[in-house]
Amino acid sequence: TDTIAPGPEAPAPLSPARAKIEQRTLRTDRWWLSPLLTMLVLVAFIFYATFRAFQNADYYADGLISPFYSPCISTNCVPDSPLGGFTPFGDWWKLSPALLILIFPLGFRMTCYYYRKAYYRAFWQSPPACAVAEPHGKYSGETRFPLILNNAHRYFFYAGLIFNVILTWDGILAFRNADGEWGHMSLGTLVLLANATLLWLYSLSCHSCRHAIGGRLKHFSKHPLRYKGWTLVSKLNHKHMLFAWISLFGVALTDAYVALVANGTFSNPTFF
Ligand code: FES
Repeated sequence: TDTIAPGPEAPAPLSPARAKIEQRTLRTDRWWLSPLLTMLVLVAFIFYATFRAFQNADYYADGLISPFYSPCISTNCVPDSPLGGFTPFGDWWKLSPALLILIFPLGFRMTCYYYRKAYYRAFWQSPPACAVAEPHGKYSGETRFPLILNNAHRYFFYAGLIFNVILTWDGILAFRNADGEWGHMSLGTLVLLANATLLWLYSLSCHSCRHAIGGRLKHFSKHPLRYKGWTLVSKLNHKHMLFAWISLFGVALTDAYVALVANGTFSNPTFF
């Protein structure tokens, strides 16, 4: 079969099935901008989240717990943090409690259909954009380790639902004052509830959620409730990319808010 010889102007892959175009792309717009911005934002988030997860400090104050540390399930948690008494790991865990739980939200995002597209483009350039050849000579898709793990997305989706319930509960608990009495509300209460809402929107718009609700049915007419649910989450699904980004910012900003309150930089304003 005839192939174009690899070279600076004719990068791989040069499969015979592809159009024989000498240039890497014929696009003249700024196609590189989107993957570049994606990479910058994700790298910034990774640095921030790694620092906060290992910091093991400033994650609970004034009844507010950071989403990076909830549920807090090791004995070295701040004692009065929600679920602070639930310690299935006993005394042996000495590192940051965040490290025990972050695999679940992290796994959920890493295996997300949208983020896969985003990081394949931004980091792996496979391909960097539509109609732009990728620099790799081989393509094995998601058939091998580690990318085959992306098939576990549906399980991370179910784990993510449990986390959403816990983070919503954290927001509800923030309606209590320092003495544990209900009827208190601060800016932090609203921040925690907004974060939980964004996470629900992200989960409900998930492709696995859409499949769990309306998939594997032969006749929608025989399952009117599931059809209604499927119609609803399908509408959210159109905005999944938007929810993916704003919920990512939401988690980071909520954590930053709690950290600022905990280290005394900001006093959490109270409404009542
Ligand atoms: Fe993005 Fe499931 S597809 S969270």
